[in-house]
Parts: sequence; C-alpha cells; structure tokens
Amino acid sequence: MEHIASTGGCNGGFLDAAGMKGFMIGRRGAMLGATALAAGLILPRSALRAAPAPRTYSLNPAPARQRLNGPQWPETEVWGYNGGVPGPTIRVKQGETLEVAVTNGLKEPTTVHWHGVRLPNAMDGVPYLTQPPIAPGETFTYTFAPPDAGTYWYHSHFNSPEQIGRGLYGALIVEETTPPDVDRDIVWVVDDWRLDKDGRIDPNFAQPMDLGHDGRIGNTATINGGSPEAVPVRAGERIRLRLINAANARIFALEFGALKPLLIARDGHPTGPSELTGPVVLAPAQRADLILDMTGRPGDRVDVVDGRYGVNRRFRLTTLAYGPDAPATADRRRPFAGLPANPLPTLDLAAARKLDVVLEGGMHTAMESATLHGRTVDIRTLFRAGKMWAINRQIGDAEHKDHGPLLVEARRGETVAFDIANRSMFDHPMHLHGFPFRILERDGRPEPRQPWADTVLIAPESRARVAFLAEAAGDWLFHCHILEHHLAGMGAVLRVS
Ligand code: C2O
Ligand code: CU
Repeated sequence: MEHIASTGGCNGGFLDAAGMKGFMIGRRGAMLGATALAAGLILPRSALRAAPAPRTYSLNPAPARQRLNGPQWPETEVWGYNGGVPGPTIRVKQGETLEVAVTNGLKEPTTVHWHGVRLPNAMDGVPYLTQPPIAPGETFTYTFAPPDAGTYWYHSHFNSPEQIGRGLYGALIVEETTPPDVDRDIVWVVDDWRLDKDGRIDPNFAQPMDLGHDGRIGNTATINGGSPEAVPVRAGERIRLRLINAANARIFALEFGALKPLLIARDGHPTGPSELTGPVVLAPAQRADLILDMTGRPGDRVDVVDGRYGVNRRFRLTTLAYGPDAPATADRRRPFAGLPANPLPTLDLAAARKLDVVLEGGMHTAMESATLHGRTVDIRTLFRAGKMWAINRQIGDAEHKDHGPLLVEARRGETVAFDIANRSMFDHPMHLHGFPFRILERDGRPEPRQPWADTVLIAPESRARVAFLAEAAGDWLFHCHILEHHLAGMGAVLRVS
C-alpha cells in the first residue's frame, strides 16, 4: 500500500555497477582514473573498484495539489517534492554514493536535511550553519554515502514548521547489502495536518498556543499523504513495515490489534528483534521497523489504532484487510533472524566529556529569564517575542544565521555524554544531527539494550542519558523535533573540531 509519487527516481546510468561487484567502473571511477593518470599515479585496482557511479535523484520542492483525506474531501494545496507528498522514496545501498540535485521551485529559500544519516557537515542541510539556503530557482547538489543501513528520511530544514507542515518530506531507505527475507517491504510515512473544513492547510504556523504547549497538533492523520480506508494484506505473508513520523508535533502510539509486531530497528539501527508489549510510540522524526506476520485468515480485518492522547481521542489510522487468497506460504512461523549490525563506533564512556543538558520553558514554566543572543531577558518579554524554550537557560534561534548558543565544543574522536533533564510540562523528542547516540539510562535506570537512536523522546520531568562519538568536524544542531518548540528557542549547536 504505497502511493508514493515516484517521479525523478534513479537515473544513474551505472546503477548496476555496484551490483556487479564493482567490476564496471562508473563515471566517478573513470574520473578518478583520469585524475590519477594525469598526476602520474598508479592506483591499486581496489581503489577504482571502491568508487562506482553514484545513485542520482532530483528533488523539486514546489506547490502541488493532493487529496489528503479520502475521495469525499477536496484537494489540498500542499508543498511537495516532485509533485506530491511524500516526495519520492529514495533508495540507496549501504555504502553507495547518493547524489541528489535539489532545485527550488518555491517562492522562498529551502534546504534538505537527511535525518539520521552520518554524513559530512557540509551535506547536513542546515541553512547558514552548514550551507547557504537554496534560493528560489537555484539548484544545490547533496552528495554522501550513507554508512548505515536502515529507515531514514529527508525533509526541509528552512522555515521548517511551515515547509515540513505543508509536506516537504520523504523516505530515505538505505538497503542492507543482504536484505532480510520478507515477502514485502512497505514504507508508511505518517503525518498529521491541521485542515479547515474546505481542506485548506491552516496558514498560521507560529501560534503562541502551539509554541508554548505541545506544538502544532493537527486534525487529520495521513499515511503516505493519503487516508487509505484499508491496506490490503495476504494471510501468511511476512511484512517489513517501516514507520516514519513526519508530523510537526503529533506523537503516534500505534496498536495493531491481535497482531504481535516484532520491533527490529529504531531510527534506522537494528535493535535485535523484540516482541512489542505495548503500542509503537513514534515521536516526531522517529522511525520504527517492524516485522508483521499476518497470522489471520483470509477476510479478516485488523484496525491500526492510535491511542496516544487518551480514550476520547483514539482514532483508527487505517485497517489491514486480508484478501480472499489462501495463505501465501504454508508455514512462515520460523523466527525472524534479525538485521545485520551497522558499523557504529565504539564509545569510550570512561573518558567521555560529560554535559548536563536542561530543557526548560513553555507554559507554566518556573524559569524566570533566559539568555537570547547573549542578553538576559525576562520570561514575559521572551514569551511576547515567541521565544518560549531554552536549553541550559539559553534560547536558540532557528531563524538566525548562528542558530543559537554553543552548547559544547568537542574534539574529533571524543565520546560525549549528555544527561538531558526535561524540566517542563511537555514532551520533547530531542534530535542530534550528525551522530547517532546510544540511550544509556532513563531516570537513572539502565535502558534495556541501550539502543542507538537519533531522536530521544523525553517525557515531562524525566531524564535520559545518551552518549555518542563526535566523529566528524563541524557545527551540528541539537534541537527538539517538535518544530514549534525548535522555532521558539529549543535548539543549540555542538561544535566538533
Ligand atoms: Cu529532522 Cu534538525 O532535523
Ligand atoms: Cu520540545
């Protein structure tokens, strides 16, 4: 059940070079060869083989029209990549080079961020901090080779509440060299929208109520930019379901009825398969990969329900509808073997640079003042200016060139540990650019399996201890992925040199 627009897909002429064990040398390899010849160098064969042609895509962010909410609703004017929401699903093999040319068809600047991917700082897509914004009509080409397999996503990082809120996002799938044995691999990018009764997007993207509370929670939830009444499945099949939460602020907690989803990855990284005992909680920007064994009978139906915001606000996202066909495979009950590990770094926790990170602000805060652009300002003045959140009593500025206070400076290769305390009455999914972190503890208790993640949801009055390797040089953003919280101050910069 994917109706993702697939225009602008792969047009790399040497697409199969990697698949053919690298014996064909692509454009990159040929260039490398020519340069080497010119310089009079002799390169070992392996150096040539290591550089097959990149996989190329083009993305064109621009206004588009789309029916978000089923046939009885009017079309909505959205902003999409290549004519729809979500943008094309970008697929690349682990380690393969990706080249994405972004041509801005909007009336305002934009950038693209590759959420969760380890890449050079200049490719990270944060306006001013890592690149100049892409002006209307201009093209910027992103090039990087994702080292880790898994489920990632891309999205605008300019005027994010509005650009992501209007639909500028898509899935980025980094395929394992040997993909696991499943019958189908399905991507669901879930979102929620604030629409009026004519299906128009509410144009007020910075309402003080949203900034100071839970962010812009909408009234219409979508899967891949639509509202499928039912998603067809087949009895007996094994599905890998990749869930991505692209919402500005809504946290999903998805229940799959009698099915017993197996969690196999979080934020792209394998977790070791574990049967879920509760709903799949997905804060903005988080991903979960599930194995769904369709153990029902032909004709059965399973509602996928969101129950995050209490009994009165439960809703059915869609229904998995078994077709009439007899089971696809006689016996698919063998255990799922798990995913191959990603080449993640080793952390030196004993020598880690430690930092306390305190999240404060929002309605009913006890914080009386905070620092904005180096000046201490009282909370009332800050609230009136739409600045409502602070990290270590410092207010970030997502719209300013420096993006806000320097949180910490680290040396390249250093392990850094953040002890993050949420001293507010609201949830914060905190995201670090550049480096995945391990969640070591929550509220002082060791986190089971200490999973890798790039976004950690921290509940009100709770804490989480995370650690990561400051692997690559540059200025990297650390911010709340409730986009209204980031806009209202909840962002800071980690400098690695
Ligand atoms: Cu999903 Cu600053 O990013
Ligand atoms: Cu937040």
